[in-house]
Amino acid sequence: MLRVIGVECSLINSYAHNKDLKVKLENVVPWGRNLEEYKKMFLLSQKDLQSKKILGCGDGPSSFNFEVTQLQGDITSIDPIYQFTKDEIQSRIDETSSVVSEQLRKNQNDFIWKGIQSVDELINIRLTAMKNFINDYKNGKKEKRYIHQELPKLSFENDIFDVVLSSHFLFLYSEYFDLQFHTDSILEMCRVSKDEVKIFPLLDLKNKKSDYLEPILKILKAKGFETNIIKTDYEFQKGANELLSIKVA
Ligand SMILES: C[S@@+](CC[C@H](N)C(=O)[O-])C[C@H]1O[C@@H](n2cnc3c(N)ncnc32)[C@H](O)[C@@H]1O
Repeated sequence: MLRVIGVECSLINSYAHNKDLKVKLENVVPWGRNLEEYKKMFLLSQKDLQSKKILGCGDGPSSFNFEVTQLQGDITSIDPIYQFTKDEIQSRIDETSSVVSEQLRKNQNDFIWKGIQSVDELINIRLTAMKNFINDYKNGKKEKRYIHQELPKLSFENDIFDVVLSSHFLFLYSEYFDLQFHTDSILEMCRVSKDEVKIFPLLDLKNKKSDYLEPILKILKAKGFETNIIKTDYEFQKGANELLSIKVA
């Protein structure tokens, strides 16, 4: 039986529980957002998208990379699912999207239906985003826009991106990834950024502020980073309407 962690935030269970375990295709439940949502979550302007060198950590099957590339932006995405082929990811989308959709219908009271107004609209947005991702995937891999890497370690040199993002991965999966993982991942994101790191949301899967937020803020402060919690234009998971901005420069 497929187990989806958090209906709107399908991840995987096995490798979340055990960091040494290899990600297996049968545990991947692809579900991705689009550029419009990324812009609202991270308060990104058109100018940001076209002028900044951006890294998305855990972009999965979202269409963020595809759509920023359409705008001639400079975008790199890393994710464990990029070790799989286009056909493998497509087959998981085919196998799992109806299960995720069904769970969403059951749990629709957990979400705010303002920007996106119905479950059908949401499913349509997600399937379109993943279709765009799939169509772009082979090309994007060749162009090294989709790279198989996994936090907490990145292969990039220091300070090579302007902005480094995490959407619906860090903090959200606090139950499955511990404080050490969060600390190491966020410091690694700061290492490769020369300007700013942004993380959204700050809630965990139970819709409460991640237990790791305060300790992380202390650690970052002790290392001399300026941090700000900023209200965003995006709220779909109830209460998830803030991002953490870490100024690296
Ligand atoms: C809920 S999805 C979010 C996808 C996308 N960011 C979005 O907002 O639509 C979480 C993503 O985190 C990825 N992920 C899991 N473990 C990771 C790790 N160690 N490093 C980077 N990404 C990871 C998953 O493969 C998945 O694509």
